[in-house]
Amino acid sequence: MDLLATTPETTTCTGSCATCPTVGSCPTRLVCRCLQVTEETVITAIVSLGLRTVKQVREATAAGTGCNCCHREIAAYLSVYASSSSSPAICSAK
Ligand code: FES
Repeated sequence: MDLLATTPETTTCTGSCATCPTVGSCPTRLVCRCLQVTEETVITAIVSLGLRTVKQVREATAAGTGCNCCHREIAAYLSVYASSSSSPAICSAK
């Protein structure tokens, strides 16, 4: 399953954030420069693991565990790719 939207412009992508206009447009873009975590890794984790928070993305991918500068960007990926389901958890942690 292709989780990432592609555009013709991304075929020459170098992974530089400045050249990618929107989330999901460049699988090799570094979302987290400190930990070298790519957009593809972040999106795959969000979709396949059903992640909904920056903390969950941090735990699953290590993105955002350095200088914290990428938290806003991670949140942007969550807003696009996280499930919008608001069903309650089956088990609640106490
Ligand atoms: S850029 Fe992600 S933690 Fe620094």
